[in-house]
Amino acid sequence: MRDSLFFLLLVAFLPACVENPYVQGERLYDIHCANCHLDEGQGLGSMNPPLNDISFREDYASQLACIVRYGLNDTLQIGIRTFDIPMPGNKELTAAEIANIYNYIVHSWHPEMSKTTESEIQEQLKSCTIE
Ligand code: HEC
Repeated sequence: MRDSLFFLLLVAFLPACVENPYVQGERLYDIHCANCHLDEGQGLGSMNPPLNDISFREDYASQLACIVRYGLNDTLQIGIRTFDIPMPGNKELTAAEIANIYNYIVHSWHPEMSKTTESEIQEQLKSCTIE
């Protein structure tokens, strides 16, 4: 009886331990990115570029890990808008956390793109040119 009770408790609480990666990605996005890129990734006027439209995929998706870690000080021309305010880096985010943020962005706004893994992000971080 005691054993089966233990088993029932285990089955009931196990799912809570295995965190859904999009939930962690969303939480990290809300803390580290939404201030500027806003909740729906729509960006903010001509200050902060959108992450939820096609310009994101074409221009910077393959460098996202480097941008998130080291920031970006560039001039982006997106449609008729020009973005030239620098983005600060986030040195404290790990490769796993950046992967979760990336997968949350893909899951939410770019279903046509493929998801990434922690090791792919680690590879990307080795060849950053914007350090
Ligand atoms: C303080 C405001 C700020 C925060 C916080 C911020 N960004 Fe940015 N982001 C910017 C600005 C401004 C630019 C444009 C930089 C430039 O013009 O050089 C930018 C550019 C980008 C780009 C390139 C734009 C494109 O079209 O692909 C990506 C990708 C990006 N940010 C992702 C993120 C992610 C992911 C986070 C959270 C980890 C984040 N940013 C946090 C302000 C911010």
